[in-house]
Amino acid sequence: MLYIGADLGTSSLKLLLVNDKGEILNSVTRDYPLIFPRPGWCEQDANEWWNAFVPAVKSLLDGHDPDEVKAIGLGGQMHGLVILDDKDELIRPVILWNDGRTDEETAYLNNVIGKDRLAEYTGNIAFAGFTAPKLLWMKKHEPENFSRISKIMLPKDYINYLLTGVHSCDYSDASGLLLLDVKNRCWSREMLEICSVREDQLPKLFESYEVTGTIKKEVAELLGLPCDVKVIAGAGDNAAAAVGTGTVGDGACNISLGTSGTIFTSSSKFAIDPMNSLHAFAHADGTYHLMGVLLSAASCNKWFCEEILGTDDFNHEQEGMEETLGKNNIFFLPYLMGERSPINDTYARGLFIGMSMDTSRRDMVQAVLEGVGLCVRDCVEVSRKIGVDIKRSKLCGGGAKSPVWRKIIANVLDIPIDIPVTEQGPGYGAAMLCMVGTGLYKDVKDCADALIHVKETVYPDPELVVAYDRMYEKHKLLYPALKDFYEVMNR
Ligand code: XUL
Repeated sequence: MLYIGADLGTSSLKLLLVNDKGEILNSVTRDYPLIFPRPGWCEQDANEWWNAFVPAVKSLLDGHDPDEVKAIGLGGQMHGLVILDDKDELIRPVILWNDGRTDEETAYLNNVIGKDRLAEYTGNIAFAGFTAPKLLWMKKHEPENFSRISKIMLPKDYINYLLTGVHSCDYSDASGLLLLDVKNRCWSREMLEICSVREDQLPKLFESYEVTGTIKKEVAELLGLPCDVKVIAGAGDNAAAAVGTGTVGDGACNISLGTSGTIFTSSSKFAIDPMNSLHAFAHADGTYHLMGVLLSAASCNKWFCEEILGTDDFNHEQEGMEETLGKNNIFFLPYLMGERSPINDTYARGLFIGMSMDTSRRDMVQAVLEGVGLCVRDCVEVSRKIGVDIKRSKLCGGGAKSPVWRKIIANVLDIPIDIPVTEQGPGYGAAMLCMVGTGLYKDVKDCADALIHVKETVYPDPELVVAYDRMYEKHKLLYPALKDFYEVMNR
C-alpha cells in the first residue's frame, strides 16, 4: 500500500510517496509565489496550490502503481484565511499567517474584548496572524467581500475540499482560527458572535487522522488515481511536523526552522501559558501542545543570502563558521515580518547591530543564524518559566540541514538536539496520519514508535554554552530598548 503525504508550505508544496514500511519512494516539490501588497502584508493565490498539486501528484506517481495508493493526507501552513462564495469561487487572495495588517483588530480583541475572556473562550489571546482578526479586518475594510462569504477554510482544507467536496478541518489547524474552544474541541459560540461568523460557514471538525471522505470521481480521473482513495483530515504544518519527527506523548519537543520557526511541546493535558506568549493548540494525535512561533526563521537566512548577498549557496556562506561560534559580536533580530512569540509585535522589524570596520560577510551570516537561535531561546525561556522544562528536542525544517545551525541551537539552548532519519517533517507526518486513519496503526503514538528513528544527536559543548549564555544576556536587552522606536518608525 502507498500513501501520499503533502506539506502545503508557504513557498512550496512538497509531496511524498510513502509505503507501509514508512519508506519514502518518491518526492516532488513545486514552488509558488507570495504576494506582498504592502510592507508587512502577505497574500497568496489559492489557485496556485491546486495548480501545483495536480501535476505534482502525477510526477510523484511516475514509475509507481497508482492502484496501490490508499490515502492522501495534508499538513499545511496555518491561519491563512481562504473564503469561498456560494458558487464555491474564491472571493479574494488568501491572507497568510505572517500577514501583519490586523494590528487594530488584534488590539481590539486583546484590549476591548480582553485577553482573559479570549483565553477563557479559546485558550489563547489574539495574534495578528490568527484568522479571527483577519475576519474582523475584512468586515471593516472589505464589507462587500465579507458579506459574500459562504465557506471559511484553512489552506490545506481548500485542497481537501477540492479532493472530496467535504468542508472539513482538523482540531490542530482549527486551533489557529481563534474561533475554537481548544480544550473542549468545539466552536466557541462567543467567538463566533464576536467575529460575526455563523457555524454554517465553518468546516466540520475531525481528528487529524480521521478519514473525511473519498476523492471525487472526476478528481480521481484528473490525478490518475483509483476512485476509492481516502482523504484524512490532516493537520496544521507544525502538528504534522511533530508527528513526522515523533514528537508525541507528554513533554516531547520539536523545533522547526522553516519559513517560520516553531518550538512545539506536546502534552497529554490541555494547558495554557498564563503569560499568553505561547499558543495552546490541539495536537494531531488527539492531545494538545504549546507552541512558540517566530514569524521568520530559515527565511532570514534565505533573505540575507539571496536578496542581499546575491547567492543561494548557503553551505558556502557557512564554511569555516564552526571555528567562530560563540565569538561573534554582531547581533541580529529576525523580525522581518514583525514577531509573534514572545513579543507579539507587528511593528518590530529586522536589525543588525554591532558592526565595525573589521566585520566580515561571514560574521553577518553567522549573526543571522545566531539571532534566530537566540529568539528560539526566548520561547524556550518562557516555557521554562511556566514549568515546561525542555530537556532535549528534535529539529526539522530547511534550517535543520545546516550542521552549523544545529550546533548553534544545541548550544544556545544547552540541550541535546536529535536529528530524525526522515527530515521531511509535515509531509511525512501527514503520510503517518494516513496510515493511522486507514487502520495500519492503532494510533499516532504506535505509528511514531514504529517509524521514527534518530540518526544523529548534537550535544552542547560546555564552553560554547557559556559563550552563548553571555550572548543571550545581551540579546535580551535589544528588544526592550527598541520597542518604542519600532512604534515611532511605523507612525
Ligand atoms: C504557526 C504559524 C506558522 C505557519 C507556517 O502558528 O503561523 O508556523 O503554520 O506555515
